[in-house]
Amino acid sequence: MSQVILDPYDHEFHWDPYPYYRAARELDPVYYYEPGGFWLLTKWDDVNRAFRDHKTFINTGALALEKDANEKLPYPLFLASDPPEHTRQRGILAPLMMPAALSRLEAYARERTLELMRPHLPTGRLDIVADLACYLPMDVISRLINVPIADRDTVRGFADDLIARADKQTDLSERNVAGYMGLARYFEEHTARHAAGPRGDDLLGAMLRAQEQGRMTHLEVVGNLILLAIAGNETTTKLIGNMAYRLWEHPDQRRLLADDPTLLPKAVEEILRFDGSSHILVRRVGVDVTVRGKNLKKGDRVGLCVISANRDADKFPDPESFDIKRGSRDHMAFGYGIHACLGAALARLETRVAFEEIMRLIPDYQIEESGLKRAHNPNVRGFTHIPTTFAPVRP
Ligand code: HEM
Repeated sequence: MSQVILDPYDHEFHWDPYPYYRAARELDPVYYYEPGGFWLLTKWDDVNRAFRDHKTFINTGALALEKDANEKLPYPLFLASDPPEHTRQRGILAPLMMPAALSRLEAYARERTLELMRPHLPTGRLDIVADLACYLPMDVISRLINVPIADRDTVRGFADDLIARADKQTDLSERNVAGYMGLARYFEEHTARHAAGPRGDDLLGAMLRAQEQGRMTHLEVVGNLILLAIAGNETTTKLIGNMAYRLWEHPDQRRLLADDPTLLPKAVEEILRFDGSSHILVRRVGVDVTVRGKNLKKGDRVGLCVISANRDADKFPDPESFDIKRGSRDHMAFGYGIHACLGAALARLETRVAFEEIMRLIPDYQIEESGLKRAHNPNVRGFTHIPTTFAPVRP
């Protein structure tokens, strides 16, 4: 590639963005994407510096890549805030998202994985996303925010509507805004239903208690429930799908994993680095700054392309190879710094548990390539359908 043509809103691009990211790193690592009106940083050093320098690269007013997101999506989400507001809210949720606090969810994640797989095992066919991965993360996050089973498909449907993008759509559509407002309505009613208590020892309980104590506003509680329903759901679904696809595409790696399941935590890190599901995070420039000779002005919008950074040859040896023994945790698939993913431990747990069961029950699954379908969004990348076949498993 002799010039950079990189369009994160192009459906075709989503099938294989990696050659374009590579061209951007080599030819124009501080790329200005004209149609969306934002800078895109693609080198590991630049992205990492932006994450660390949170006074220059700020989150207030940086909710999504779309220019109209701030006016059309009105609730405050702590992701789109800076210290001290961000520190206050994150401090309320973070203790509940530590690996030790989450370990009690492991049995539930496994039970749900098996329940979802079981009806399909004797048929020899399973759509890894549509039958399994699209449900598991929503079911698990629902436990933490107290969404009843009966409502989970509704909430998931709203989240899907919010992130779906038509080809080359650079502003939010009516469907996106309707998805967001559906979530807002749902969580307004949800908080009203729980207003009188009792308070659980989960994320919903922690936020409602904080509201009573004046440490979180009602709008922040609803906004953060919206955030959790999206973040806790879409990205992990896509990561499980990406892992299923890459293991199938690399049979040598799949064999290694089948022979030695203790490699699974390393394999999860490698899929996060190699094909993580969140590609571009958003910042605004807080004070004028120069990056590799380009002048970024206060107020400019900036995309931090973590997945390009994760394949930067200046950081990772042989970055384009998928090596489940690599085990590097220097990737930025969960971001970095003060906004690093709050659900990283949960996402790791769910992906590990799903593949412990997939590799135990159907290690030789084959993917029907003609049935692969993708979700389309400039940030969240992954499949909506991965149909597989395998030798039927008798109960
Ligand atoms: C594979 C799955 C996941 C990926 C790839 C992912 C990725 C990310 C990334 C890159 C960020 C940083 C955003 C930024 O700096 O602008 C982030 C933040 C966040 N994630 Fe995740 N995430 C995943 C799963 C989850 C889960 C399961 C939850 C559920 C609790 C979650 C909740 C959050 C929240 C609340 C934030 C905002 C943190 C803050 O601003 O302090 N994520 N995530």
